[in-house]
Amino acid sequence: MEFKIAVLPGDGIGPEVITESVKVLNAVGRRFGHSFELERGRIGGNAIDDFGTPLPDETVELCYRSDAILFGAVGGPKWDDPEATVRPEDGILAIRKSLGLFANLRPVKVYPALINSSPIKPSLLEGVDMIVLRELTGGLYFAQPKRRWEEESGRMGVDTLHYTEHEIERIVRVAFELAMGRSKRLTSVDKANVLETSRLWRQVTEEVHQDYPEVELEHILVDAAAMALVRNPAGYDVIVAENMFGDILTDEASVLSGSMGMQPSASLAGLPGVTENADEAVSLYEPIHGSAPDIAGQGIANPIGMVLSMAMMLRHSFGLEDEALAVEQAVEGVLSEGYRTPDIAADGGDIIGTDRMGTILAGRV
Ligand code: IPM
Ligand code: MG
Repeated sequence: MEFKIAVLPGDGIGPEVITESVKVLNAVGRRFGHSFELERGRIGGNAIDDFGTPLPDETVELCYRSDAILFGAVGGPKWDDPEATVRPEDGILAIRKSLGLFANLRPVKVYPALINSSPIKPSLLEGVDMIVLRELTGGLYFAQPKRRWEEESGRMGVDTLHYTEHEIERIVRVAFELAMGRSKRLTSVDKANVLETSRLWRQVTEEVHQDYPEVELEHILVDAAAMALVRNPAGYDVIVAENMFGDILTDEASVLSGSMGMQPSASLAGLPGVTENADEAVSLYEPIHGSAPDIAGQGIANPIGMVLSMAMMLRHSFGLEDEALAVEQAVEGVLSEGYRTPDIAADGGDIIGTDRMGTILAGRV
């Protein structure tokens, strides 16, 4: 089969981890006889520098005519001025929104080989294997009004937390579907003791639950969830949360796995057969880490989050389950052999750089 992939490296360590994921992807192509046609597009701060916009039209067009998108990271101190009118992050936010990628799957898994690399006690980490489903195109990130202004009394700023019933229903339905395919337990995160949007979220979730009576549903307040994720992480399986809560909780959850550099994600327009038009959508695959300007250019970034995101692409966009498993098994194998990038080397091991990690992974596919 032939697949067309838009490759958007972005800024900071984005290009470095993208290079390694492409190396591993090409190894998959060779072993399984697929042809992956890759086309690169510009996004983020480097696109602001060259085109005045973080998301040039040609990048959007490239995404629309591709079967899937591999995305690295955007942002950096160069573009961080609070007075700036355009920001690198606007690029990825606009792509998520315009492709309707409201469902962000963030699996959190602890590899036995890395159990001593996490600052969390090993006894708490055994059996951690959950998936956080983050709503990705609503809430505080997008709703209007969203601006800053000045009045006599001083400067003001506003962001708006807004959710429609439809937005909640479609993400929660995906969550129930994921739960049905796993342990039939779902935890929904909200702040229903304070926020109206959360009270609506809870109501709609209860209504959708009627369609999934086999699933055991639990509601948890986001502050309690933040505590529970480190206190009893193995007790969670599928977690669903609105955009901002999901952003924060997944950085926290990444500590369980030893490093944020380990965490992949898939941004989907829902699930085929469950969400309308999901089968025609172009999905995007991105690690949850950012551009990590502090280590960019040093060749020490962990490419595993990006490589595992690519594996999610093989599975979700192309239906290539064996190929996805081959990549995931390569990651497990390399970790159990003791290879480590510096971020996961708290427990020692054979410390290697980004390029070597990618080459070894590709060799194991
Ligand atoms: C993430 C990142 C992004 C987000 C930023 C870069 C806009 O933190 O994917 O988690 O907040 O969604
Ligand atoms: Mg984040």
